[in-house]
Amino acid sequence: MSQKIILTGDRPTGRLHIGHYVGSLRRRVELQDSGKFDKIFIMIADAQALTDNADNPEKVRQNIVEVALDYMSCGLDPAKSVLFIQSQVSELTELSFFYQNLVTVQRLQRNPTVKAEIQMRGFSESSDGSDNKAGTPVGFFCYPISQAADITAFKATTVPVGEDQEPMIEQTREIVRKFNATYGPTLVEPEIMLPDNAACMRLPGTDGKAKMSKSLGNCIYLSDSEETLREKVRGMYTDPLHLQVSDPGHVEGNTVFTYLDAFCKPEHFERFGSVFHGKKVSFDFKSLDEVKARYQAGGLGDMMVKNFLFEVLNDTLAPIRQRRAELEKDLPYVYEVLRKGSEVARAAAAETLADVKRAMRINYFDPGVLEDLIASRK
Ligand code: TRP
Repeated sequence: MSQKIILTGDRPTGRLHIGHYVGSLRRRVELQDSGKFDKIFIMIADAQALTDNADNPEKVRQNIVEVALDYMSCGLDPAKSVLFIQSQVSELTELSFFYQNLVTVQRLQRNPTVKAEIQMRGFSESSDGSDNKAGTPVGFFCYPISQAADITAFKATTVPVGEDQEPMIEQTREIVRKFNATYGPTLVEPEIMLPDNAACMRLPGTDGKAKMSKSLGNCIYLSDSEETLREKVRGMYTDPLHLQVSDPGHVEGNTVFTYLDAFCKPEHFERFGSVFHGKKVSFDFKSLDEVKARYQAGGLGDMMVKNFLFEVLNDTLAPIRQRRAELEKDLPYVYEVLRKGSEVARAAAAETLADVKRAMRINYFDPGVLEDLIASRK
């Protein structure tokens, strides 16, 4: 039986937020604890982060520890998952270099995520400086290829990621097929694993904008304090047409309800009430459908729903916050986890690199290769 292997990761450009959590982190922990996978690799993609942060390695360096703390406080367990730093596995760069020959510039230009990101970052097509734009760094443009190296190096069968990563996995699959067709069966074609709930696919920001993102300043971080969480929920975007409590409200496009869709569990209705004018009042609903129906009919105020949402979010985030505080007291331990993980990852990637070189017949100094060469000259 072939092994079931997970690889996934994040760029360390900031602390992780609840969009990361529902989009991928929560799933990873479940998969880790399911015992159904033979190996799990979780990568802090610092080299990828540098492709558009070349001038700010300090930001990337600082955030490696923050992301590791976020990972471990969410329940990723170094005894079960290999947590490692991308740049410490130099085999990945070698693989990328060979894969670059199997991908065209035109194909990369069609990658929708890269396209969107180039636009978002304001990189222009021209790079001669004439229009004051810096141009697109080559490393950034090619990062889908490096991501194919990340995935294939660990022979990953399963890549749990958010929807925006779909084009990367598709491109990886193409590279695998091309490699195997050209050099013989060597690499494993991975499957993407997307969130199973639409609200989790792409969690909007607290301001209702399509994406939660640090640059938009609309994030709820896993490491936010209870007070900060309360304030952010209080200020959240709801339904701009819902002015009076008695007005009928809209649920679609209402961020508060999207978050409830992503976080609310049946047990929350028994456990949590709401707070109204400083007093605890019951939030007398048995399911989210009931809450939505009342909101749509009119007669349910935003503050009531927000207070309930705060309890729901805090129920998930409080234990994470607490574990983070514990881990923060022992950073040398966290660092050691990453160091050991990077060693384990490196050994795994080295095996694949050897397979790749053998398939490409550039393994000149392996045993038997010279003998083959001599025989073929006759
Ligand atoms: N591109 C991913 C992100 O921005 C991070 C990443 C790098 C990744 N290499 C990967 C994710 C390999 C999954 C598999 O979050």
